[in-house]
This record gives sequence, structure tokens and C-alpha cells, in this order.
Amino acid sequence: MNELTTAGRLGRVRATAYSKLTLSLQVGALRDDGFHELEALAVSISDPHDVIEVRAVPHPGGVTLKMRGETDDVPTGMTNLAARAADELLVRAGRSGHGVELIVRKKIPSGAGLGGGSADAAATLVAIRRMLEIDLDDATLLELGAKLGSDVSFCLAGGAAWMRGRGERIEAVDLPAGMPFLVALPPFRLSTPTVYRAWDDLGRPRAARSVPATGAVAALLPELSNDLEPAAEAVEPRLAQFRTDLEAAAEAPALLAGSGSAYVVPVPDGRDVDAYARRVSGRMRVPVTPAASVSRGVRLGSG
Ligand code: C5P
Repeated sequence: MNELTTAGRLGRVRATAYSKLTLSLQVGALRDDGFHELEALAVSISDPHDVIEVRAVPHPGGVTLKMRGETDDVPTGMTNLAARAADELLVRAGRSGHGVELIVRKKIPSGAGLGGGSADAAATLVAIRRMLEIDLDDATLLELGAKLGSDVSFCLAGGAAWMRGRGERIEAVDLPAGMPFLVALPPFRLSTPTVYRAWDDLGRPRAARSVPATGAVAALLPELSNDLEPAAEAVEPRLAQFRTDLEAAAEAPALLAGSGSAYVVPVPDGRDVDAYARRVSGRMRVPVTPAASVSRGVRLGSG
């Protein structure tokens, strides 16, 4: 719930930050700025998601961050991307004297390849813009987001899109909400820069395998693949066994999510996704989250 201050302004805004699921990833040249050219098809998914709450506080001025929930390996203080997003927005809007408290309730694990930090940053930008009635349009917010991280633009735009450039160039695609996926989390995490570095060291391989797309995605791209998969499996050798076990448990092919370590199983139409997730989770003894594509990356005003 939002609260109105006596001045009529919102004193508190909540936003849901959805995970980003990379359904295909082709990596290209290493650029002078240290990033790789890429082309990826990504969708926002319902779960796991984080909830961001921003509050206007009289003092101290500037941004304070409180983390709740699954905070393992999540950067704290101003190294956290959401805190940096808040700070950049306040500076850009000429409001850096304002006090903003940021409470991040984490469910998206760090190091899973689900864009959790970027999702939090995008939700923070949208929530603070609303709370302080900042007069910046979506294009300016996208530009600000792109400077913060390669995935923030997608998380701001949300839905389904091709990502190009270093990831910040977004072209929306027409895919329906409600497409079902399982997201399986192995008991170990991966660092994105380490996986990209391993991909360079391996001689920049193309994906060694692909998995058939399901539902509406199949019309757009029949086969899904991820060029980073061999690199991620080289960095974390337990990952290949995890995938083999997951595919056996799910009786369906699985694909690495972004730079890992989560794996995604596209769910064939007509399955009860909750029951399917419970069964696979029981067999694997790891968290397996049922998820569905959603039309936005950030939803304002949710609990
Ligand atoms: O932009 P972001 O901070 O999310 O990127 C994290 C790291 O992932 C970068 O520092 C870089 O090592 C790697 N990366 C890359 N090429 C991209 C996106 C990310 O090499 N297009």
C-alpha cells in the first residue's frame, strides 16, 4: 500500500521486481569497454521476484539500504545496484538532498543468472520516480538504467524482448504472458564476469547444444541455446551433472539461464506447472520454482 503524506505526496511506494529469463543467448565480440556484443531473447517471469519498498525519510539525506530475505552474496551498501540506481536518479533529478530509505526483500538469488540486481535497480528507479514525482520520462530512465548495468534496460522495459549491444538495446517482441517455465537452482552460484572471461579463454565457443522451444516461443525461435553454457560448465564442473540430473527428473531438456547457475525448463503446454515443479524439486532436492512469463519487468504498488 502507498501512503500519502500531509503534502499529498506519496511517502512510500512498493514495486515488484521480476526475474529476467534469457531464453537464448548468442555472444559476440569482446568490445574495448570490456563488454561483449550479444543477442539474447529474454522474458520477464513471475517468480522468483523481489519486492522493493522506497520511503521518503526526513533524515538522513541520501540513500540508505536495508536488505531482507535471501541476501547471501548480495552486495550491501552503495555497492548494491539498487542503492546506486537510487543515488543516480536523485542526482539526475537534482534531489540528492532528499532522504530515501530502500528496503529490498530478496527472493531472486544472486549469482543465478536471473538478473536480480538489475531487476531491483529497475524497480527502484520506477518506485522513486513515482514517490518523488520526478519529471523524467521513460526514455531518460532507460538511458540512466543502461549506465547502471547491461540488463537494467530490459528489466525496465520488461515483457519479452530481443536484447542487443551489450544488452541495453531492447526490441520488444510479441510473446504472451502466462508461458510456463520451471527455474531450478543448484546449490552453488556463478559470477557473471568469471563466466564471460572463461568463454573468452575457451576460444569463444558457440553453444554445444540446443533445446526445443515450447508454446508461442517456438514460432519465434524453434531452438533455444546459450553460448555461455560450456563456459559456465567449465567454471563450475558440478553444473553439467546438475543439468543431467535435472533433465532426468523433469523428463525434459533444460537450458542455462544467462551466465548461470540457474537452469530453466520450458514447460510443455497443458501441464500443471505447480505439480510438475513439486515433483522435480522432490526428485532433485533443490528449489524448483514454477514461473510464468509476465508482461512487465516492474509492477508498481504490489505487496
Ligand atoms: O553490465 P553488468 O554489470 O551486468 O555486467 C557484469 C559483467 O558481465 C561485466 O562486467 C562483464 O564482465 C560481463 N558482461 C559482458 N558482456 C555483456 C554483459 C556483461 O562481458 N554484454
